[in-house]
Amino acid sequence: MLSGLWLLRLLGPAPGAAPAPQPMVTILIWHWPFTEQPPELPGDTCARYGVAHCLLSTNRSLLTSADMVVFHHRELQTQRTRLPLAQRPQGQPWVWASMESPSHTRGLRRLRGIFNWVLSYRSDSDIFVPYGRLEPRSSPAPPLPAKSRLAAWVVSNFQERQQRARLYRQLAPHLQVDVFGRASGRPLCTNCLVSTVARYHFYLSFENSQHRDYITEKFWRNALLAGTVPVVLGPPRATYEAFVPPDAFIHVDDFGSARELAAFLTGMNTSRYQRFFAWRDRLRVRLLTDWRERFCTICARYPYLPRGQVYEDLEGWFQA
Ligand SMILES: *[C@@H]1O[C@H](CO)[C@@H](O)[C@H](O)[C@H]1NC(C)=O
Ligand SMILES: *[C@@H]1O[C@H](CO)[C@@H](O)[C@H](O)[C@H]1NC(C)=O
Repeated sequence: MLSGLWLLRLLGPAPGAAPAPQPMVTILIWHWPFTEQPPELPGDTCARYGVAHCLLSTNRSLLTSADMVVFHHRELQTQRTRLPLAQRPQGQPWVWASMESPSHTRGLRRLRGIFNWVLSYRSDSDIFVPYGRLEPRSSPAPPLPAKSRLAAWVVSNFQERQQRARLYRQLAPHLQVDVFGRASGRPLCTNCLVSTVARYHFYLSFENSQHRDYITEKFWRNALLAGTVPVVLGPPRATYEAFVPPDAFIHVDDFGSARELAAFLTGMNTSRYQRFFAWRDRLRVRLLTDWRERFCTICARYPYLPRGQVYEDLEGWFQA
């Protein structure tokens, strides 16, 4: 019986029995994301992330033998790369990988009926890789950075049609917001963002587009890791609450108007403000920004990934 077999699998080998040798899973990464120069991928790459029996490679001559092939969408989109469909071994799983939102994703229509698994920030992905998460803390939290200013925003691509631009325009008359980034005339040096925004009480974690589960480093790194309170514009409050405690952030949807939101921020007292950081006593932020770690996650999920599944309508799934 199937359920009995599952149970045996879960219980593992009997005590004293020789452990069954676990086969190595080989993942061919067709394009390393955003670069022509993939990192060195020594055999123990995934072991560093706590994942065993997992080999990442960019060597395309492994196409016929790899356990699966991963295609990162950006390169499919910009280089209009031909997929090696003719050389694809029968039954080889192919993975579609992307951390971009649907607003910045084109060309999905021609990818119908090709991919078996999806790796993305969407929590219903076969391989779910958020931009960050909270983990239990083993050592005391460092003290909060000293705050001297009210609200910061970092924006590199300001477009009036974006919801975040409209909200900023509505807030600005009621709230002193210091704007940094390429679009503001006050660019930040590469490693200055966190230390700069840490001096602020609030950080405007406004996503560039609003989509299901789309919560990026604007939330995890620029706000939570920096030690400032995120004011979020993104998916609904319930989505954030699936990942962090409800009192760790301020959601713009909780206010009837930009003026009300501004009044809440400017009228804050110290005891109320401290409550936003209650989570820091027991939790810490972990960023998941390294593509090596993201790809190694596939092996951790491998035994549970659905076999025989095909995304007939990848675009329909992703736009939903
Ligand atoms: C790629 O893999 C093939 C087959 O295993 C091997 O012969 C070749 O040396 C590899 N190339 C590189 C650059 O590692
Ligand atoms: C601080 O603000 C909270 C919430 O607005 C309020 O309930 C509390 O009484 C205030 N505390 C002080 C000391 O003003």
